[in-house]
Amino acid sequence: MAMLDILHHPDPRLRNVAAPVEAVDDGVRRLADDLLETMYSARGIGLAAVQVGVARRVVVVDVSPQRNAPLALVNPRVAEAHEGLAEFEEGCLSVPGVYETVPRPARVRIDALDRDGQAVSIEAEGALAACLQHEIDHLDGRLFVDYLSRLKQQRIRKRALKHQREALA
Ligand code: NI
Repeated sequence: MAMLDILHHPDPRLRNVAAPVEAVDDGVRRLADDLLETMYSARGIGLAAVQVGVARRVVVVDVSPQRNAPLALVNPRVAEAHEGLAEFEEGCLSVPGVYETVPRPARVRIDALDRDGQAVSIEAEGALAACLQHEIDHLDGRLFVDYLSRLKQQRIRKRALKHQREALA
């Protein structure tokens, strides 16, 4: 396994729309393992391949308190969003230091392939539902900050650019 570098907002590569995975092979499994290692090391609860500069539809999540329930999904999509919204305070490894509440469908059905290439269907609610929707957004080049007010988005962008300049100085 290998640790991968996580891209930070406003890196334009975070806006790439990821391509579907044609076949779940060893390369895809290695990518999923590397994403998990990187996510755990960064203390995140989810990570999408787009966030490490790989524009393929692969995400990993683990919302368990014990950090022992890894989930790797290939070509995940929201197959059904039930009525009713829930708000969770979200953060993102690509937008460090920012935590904001985002309303999303409270219950969703996610269709995907697992690491063996088998079709899976997951009924998700609570933190898992929010996290999976957040990660699937990454595959479409969308960030959770996109749901915030324009003013908040401008502030976040400004701060991120300032941090970038400081890191380069
Ligand atoms: Ni994120």
